[in-house]
Amino acid sequence: MKAVFFCAMLLASVSVWSFFTATKPAAQKDKIALGKRLFSEKMLSKDSSVSCASCHKPDYAFADTVAFSTGIFGIESDRNTPSVLNMKNRPYYFWDGRAGSLETQALMPIANPNEMGLPVKEAVARLNNSREYRQLFKKIFGQFPNAKNLGAAFAAYEQTLETVDSKFDDWSNGLGKLSASEERGRKLFTGSKAKCFDCHSMEDFTDDQFKNIGLFNGKYMTDSGRYLVTKRKTDLGKFKTPGLRNIAVTAPYMHNGMFATLEEVVRFYNDPRVFISHPVNLDPALKKPLGLTAKEQKDLVAFLKTLTDKAYIKN
Ligand code: HEC
Ligand code: HEC
Repeated sequence: MKAVFFCAMLLASVSVWSFFTATKPAAQKDKIALGKRLFSEKMLSKDSSVSCASCHKPDYAFADTVAFSTGIFGIESDRNTPSVLNMKNRPYYFWDGRAGSLETQALMPIANPNEMGLPVKEAVARLNNSREYRQLFKKIFGQFPNAKNLGAAFAAYEQTLETVDSKFDDWSNGLGKLSASEERGRKLFTGSKAKCFDCHSMEDFTDDQFKNIGLFNGKYMTDSGRYLVTKRKTDLGKFKTPGLRNIAVTAPYMHNGMFATLEEVVRFYNDPRVFISHPVNLDPALKKPLGLTAKEQKDLVAFLKTLTDKAYIKN
C-alpha cells in the first residue's frame, strides 16, 4: 500500500515537474541560437583567444585540418579534434568516452588547460558580467547563466548538427545510384572480407563501442585510450569507434591524427602490423591481414567518399 502511494506521489510530482520545465518550441529555438553563439564565444577561454569553433571548424564538418589543434597560448591538444556532427545519439563522448552527455562534455574543454583553460566558475562569472548574456539566459532559462544552463545551451545547439543528406543517403532512400566502384566499396564495407561494418555499423557508421584497431603498443604508441577511464587491462588501446559520416572532410585521421588520407587508413586496416609492431589487445577481426587488392582498397575509399553531406561538398 505504502509503495503504491509512493509511486502515485512520484508520478504526480514528475508530471507537475515536466509541465513546468517542458520547453516551448519558441524557447527551444532561442536556446539553439544561444548555443550556436556560445560555440564561437572566445570570452569562454582564459585569454579570450579561442572558442569551440577554433578547433571544431564549421567549414570542415566541425573538425579541423591538423593532427593536433592549438588551444590557448599556442598549446597543442593531446588528441586529434573529432567532428561534432551527428553527436545527438551517442552514449559517450571523447575518444575514450569519458563524458556521458553533451551537457557535461561541453564544460570540459572550457576548463581543460590545453584547450580553453578557464575554470567553469570563471566562465560563468564572465557571462554574468555581460548584460546581454544575462538577459538572454534569463529569458530562455528563467535563470541567469550558471554551469548547468551553459551546458544545456551547447547541447541544444549540438543536437541540431545532424547530417543525413549524402550520396549514400540518396542511394539508401532509393533516390540515386552509386557508381560501380562505390557500389563495390559498399559491398566490401559491409561484407566479411573488409569487416568495416563489424564496428562502423548503424546509421552513423558507429557501434558506439570501444574497440582496439592496433594503435597502442606501450612503446612508441602510448595513448592507452579507454583504459584511462576504466583502468581495466582489457581496455588498453581501445578507442570509441568514430562515426564515418563526412569522413572525407575531416582528415587527418585517428585519435592521434596519424593518417593524412583515407587511402592510408585503408592500407593500414589491410595489415595493421605493417604500421605498428606488437600492438597490444588487437581486435580479433583484424588479427589476420584482410588481403584487399589495390582495386578493392580504391573501391572502399570511393564508398567512404559517398558519406559526405552535400553541405560540405565544395563546387
Ligand atoms: C583546442 C581545441 C579544442 C577546443 C577549443 C574545443 N575542442 Fe572539442 N575536442 C577537441 C579535441 C582534441 C577532442 C578530443 C579529445 C579527447 O577525446 O580526449 C574534442 C572532443 C569534443 C567532443 C567529443 C566528440 C566525440 O566524437 O566524442 C565534443 C562534443 C566537443 N569536443 C565539443 C566542444 C565544445 C562544445 C567546445 C567549446 C566549449 C570545444 N569542443 C572546444 C578539441 C577542442
Ligand atoms: C574492430 C573494430 C573496427 C573495424 C573492424 C574497423 N574499424 Fe575503423 N575505427 C575503429 C576505431 C576504434 C577507430 C578509432 C581508432 C583510434 O583512433 O585509435 C576507427 C577509426 C577509423 C577511421 C578514422 C576516423 C576518424 O575520425 O579519424 C576510419 C576512416 C575508419 N576507421 C574506417 C574503417 C574502414 C574503412 C574499415 C574496414 C576496412 C574499418 N574502419 C574497420 C574501429 C574499427
